[in-house]
Amino acid sequence: MNPKLFEGKETPFYYYDLSLLRRTLTAIKSATADSPHFHVHYAVKACAHPEILRTIAQAGLGADCVSGGEVEIAAEYGFSPEKIVFAGVGKTDREIQTALDIDIACFNVESLPELENINALAAQSGKKARVAFRINPNIDAHTHAKITTGLNENKFGLAMDDMIAAIRRAQELSHIEYIGLHFHIGSQITEMQPFAALADRINQLQLLLEAEGIATPSINVGGGLGVDYQTPDLHPIPDFEAYFSTFKERLQVRKNQEVHFELGRSVTAQCGSLVSRVVYVKQGHEKQFVIVDAGMTDLVRPAMYGSYHHTLNLTSTSAEEEVYDIVGPICESSDVFHTDYKLPTTRRGDLIVFRSAGAYGETMASRYNCRQLPGSIIYSSANPS
Ligand code: LLP
Repeated sequence: MNPKLFEGKETPFYYYDLSLLRRTLTAIKSATADSPHFHVHYAVKACAHPEILRTIAQAGLGADCVSGGEVEIAAEYGFSPEKIVFAGVGKTDREIQTALDIDIACFNVESLPELENINALAAQSGKKARVAFRINPNIDAHTHAKITTGLNENKFGLAMDDMIAAIRRAQELSHIEYIGLHFHIGSQITEMQPFAALADRINQLQLLLEAEGIATPSINVGGGLGVDYQTPDLHPIPDFEAYFSTFKERLQVRKNQEVHFELGRSVTAQCGSLVSRVVYVKQGHEKQFVIVDAGMTDLVRPAMYGSYHHTLNLTSTSAEEEVYDIVGPICESSDVFHTDYKLPTTRRGDLIVFRSAGAYGETMASRYNCRQLPGSIIYSSANPS
């Protein structure tokens, strides 16, 4: 990362390395090349920057959306409707209508009232909506409590016990076509064991469905593959081989069955960084604070989940290291990026970079304290812009 690129650019801003994103997409393609029935959708919620979306769409991935707004921008930036899926526990009439108008591939339905509503809206539009049921597989993803989604206590999906009745109801409805099952167990999952457990659970559920004579053309296993936040330079590209192999080996795929994946973080986290500038270095009673111009409004993950983002001083050439709390300017005591973090001796005006911020960074930014939203720079080694 060359600080010269940032001259004259107002901080804070997101920096995206398109070359790394392209290499990541190539790694996904090569890990799935021997499995033409595998279809990868990008979870738009992770990063919806137009250039990022265009690059991912051009690589041939589909889109996984969780709002009408995401469905619209996915279609606008080049994802073809037959590769767009739409999940979410609270889809409104307007959002469902948007997705029906665009004619997306599949609604991932999370409750019976939602199923009835999609049927009614599809009837009004003279359409048949393709639906998959999101099933809660009750699997512990061994990740942060706030990003675990597949346990019985979570709000997502239908309980396994309700699966067959829901499918039977879908088969009765004239404007619904049942196409399969959807799962998502959580995010930032760094071991393969939870994914193997998910595959085993799906195998059990398929047997139940077959005993009932129900054919299931599509299985969507969701997303969740984690990234290396501690040492991003050692692992700029997640281990897609291990991830997809887990499903190749464990999931018992039926003839003509399609398998869908919804990866967000693992696609974009490592290609993005948040770049900020030191406003002041302040000596407190017991602590030394580096106060930067980025805050929890620009990158909320440390304040919200206690997440670690590897942090560098791009400007300092000092050989001495000092221990700092790195904090933002927001009027909240949770607006802290790091406590007791070592940086080379840091001065006002230095550029401070928070790494691995390309997923759930810019998309979660807010205007709290009437702040501006962060800007962005897209960099590609072939084509700096
Ligand atoms: N599919 C569904 C239904 C999801 O809910 C999610 C993420 C994904 C796919 C993509 O998961 P990924 O591959 O990115 O792990 N804001 C949190 C993460 C929330 C994830 C929400 N759902 C964070 O900053 O860690």
